[in-house]
Amino acid sequence: MGKLFENRIIESSIFANKELLRPTYIPENLPHRKKQLKSLADTLSAALKGKTPSNLLIYGKTGTGKTATVKYVDKQLEEKGEKMDSKCTLIYINCELFDTQYRVFAYLARVFNKKVPTFGWTTDKVYSEFKRVIDKEDRCVIVILDEVDKLVTGGEETLYNLSRINSELNNARVRMIGISNDPTFTELLDTSVRSSMSEEELIFPPYNANQLQDILTERAEIAFNKSVIKGEVIPLCVAFAAQEHGNAMRALDLLRVSGEIAEGTKSDVITEEHVRLANEKIETDRIAEAVKILSLQSKIVLSSVLLLSKKNSNRQFSSGEVYEMYRRLCDHLGIEALTYRRVTDFFVELEILGLINAKIVGRGRYGRTREISLSVPEVLLQPLLVEDPMLKAISNI
Ligand SMILES: Nc1ncnc2c1ncn2[C@@H]1O[C@H](COP(=O)(O)OP(=O)(O)OP(=O)(O)O)[C@@H](O)[C@H]1O
Ligand SMILES: [Mg+2]
Repeated sequence: MGKLFENRIIESSIFANKELLRPTYIPENLPHRKKQLKSLADTLSAALKGKTPSNLLIYGKTGTGKTATVKYVDKQLEEKGEKMDSKCTLIYINCELFDTQYRVFAYLARVFNKKVPTFGWTTDKVYSEFKRVIDKEDRCVIVILDEVDKLVTGGEETLYNLSRINSELNNARVRMIGISNDPTFTELLDTSVRSSMSEEELIFPPYNANQLQDILTERAEIAFNKSVIKGEVIPLCVAFAAQEHGNAMRALDLLRVSGEIAEGTKSDVITEEHVRLANEKIETDRIAEAVKILSLQSKIVLSSVLLLSKKNSNRQFSSGEVYEMYRRLCDHLGIEALTYRRVTDFFVELEILGLINAKIVGRGRYGRTREISLSVPEVLLQPLLVEDPMLKAISNI
């Protein structure tokens, strides 16, 4: 047998089953989500009994278990529904993948065996066909729209149609469950759609350190071999994830990457040092991903904040100071500088990507003044920015 395969067959001394640490795995048990599970089960069981439950909107920051909880309930309800022979169908859709009205209704229609081409029909036809096919029977269709905010730019008609569909049906009933980590997205919706979508609301609060500890301990028991994890490993993963507003996804990623690093260094145990390296790796990957999608102008604005931070002991700068540095940098690079107003749009973009903080502190000569600081370590950011050939020149400033 070739060497290439030899290594792959050798069993891991670290992981019992690494897949159990990935986001696709739905745990058998969801600690600290009892209230949310009960609330979801209560509203959904109405569907099993043949009633039409109200629409539901689920909010919570990233990594608070929204997708995991809904999929868990979905699985349970489907099993129960089969046993009770209920005419209730649950359909899970991730709107990041199905982000237009055409895609959503084509997918929904296909669930009921209606063939819809990937393109070519009008959107109205796809919607009418979906209505026609479900209305053949007395049934309840529950559409779960995960990451529903992704529909707001370009797919908002989907929400409009789903919120009024029941008035156009004779036999079937439709209900929607929207899930989002952006509490502001409904502001962009029509008032009637907004109130229809959020007849009921369910909040997923961030996990605190103790709750994260429970979640990780339970998962580590099944994902790792016995005695692999040193005592301080889980608390350190928790401490890093708690800084990220109690993000369970981050905590589980840390545990998995720590295990991979331990494995890569042929260690039989995971130590605190592996967790620190894992944290740095995850953070670098996240920053690299964010920097990669920036336009050149945006990168110059970010470089301006970086240079100011490097040159000053004070780490916070006014938007005017950043703009001055930006203009000098543009001069240095031989690029035409944009107006102050345009540059403030980049502050907002960079803040959303988690690269800077840009708090509004008042009004100044040019309009709103922001207090700007880097929200990522300088040492990680600089090499990523100078990777852009246009920005090589700043490496020696
Ligand atoms: N209470 C819990 N018990 C066990 N595992 C959990 C719990 N909550 C979350 N997780 C795990 O944490 C990870 C993130 O959860 P999930 O994907 O559900 O977050 P989310 O709220 O949907 O985040 P996003 O807004 O980014 O989509 C998943 O791997 C999930 O299995
Ligand atoms: Mg999710």
